[in-house]
Amino acid sequence: MGYIVSFIAQKGGVGKSTLARALAREASAGGWDVKVADLDTQQGTVADWHKVRLNSGYDPVGSVEVFGTVATALKNADNHDLLVMDAAARASAVTADLAKHSHLSVIPTCASRDDLMPAIRLANELRKTGIPTNKIALALTRVTTEAEIREAREFIAEAGYTALDGCLYEKPAYRQAQNTGLAVTETRYKALNEKAEILMQSILDKIAQ
Ligand SMILES: Nc1ncnc2c1ncn2[C@@H]1O[C@H](COP(=O)(O)OP(=O)(O)O)[C@@H](O)[C@H]1O
Ligand SMILES: [Mg+2]
Repeated sequence: MGYIVSFIAQKGGVGKSTLARALAREASAGGWDVKVADLDTQQGTVADWHKVRLNSGYDPVGSVEVFGTVATALKNADNHDLLVMDAAARASAVTADLAKHSHLSVIPTCASRDDLMPAIRLANELRKTGIPTNKIALALTRVTTEAEIREAREFIAEAGYTALDGCLYEKPAYRQAQNTGLAVTETRYKALNEKAEILMQSILDKIAQ
């Protein structure tokens, strides 16, 4: 059976789809057979991006498909090394269902208290439904300074959760890359790619544990 990683959050714009794309790209580049389930049927964020990617002639990141339900997406888990689930925001029932079936649920969060609180609240809700803490990880996204990263990590640790190694800095180059079908690990800037790779690698390390 393949690994299942879900990107979930109550909030939109925190980087769920961004990280889902990058994980698919990194795992594919590492030789894994990847399927991305785009569960955001209204936006189709990863599916649209993948079309742009293929039109530009870049390597596919496995296969990307839009699914209306978790159950239909899960039918694909056995046929691939990795199933990446990109959820829509504010879909509590779907989110709990995803977490139940995932080896790892990643909650991306920006570093402000306003973003950290709902992320912790979501993690607490998942715990209440019986998801173990080690299957939940927070990923710091859209960060700008070392100080805010440090404080956010402390906040997450105090709440009893793991903040993944590495983080995604707020950079226009990441948006630019994604506009043209590239992942945040494939920008024109080596240093930015390496920073994003650390975060993706820590997700892959955690599921392999
Ligand atoms: N680290 C970042 N730096 C700059 N722009 C980012 C970053 N992360 C995400 N974005 C941009 O923010 C928007 C929302 O990101 P997205 O991954 O779609 O969030 P979500 O799926 O959680 O709603 C997109 O336009 C994306 O390109
Ligand atoms: Mg999204």
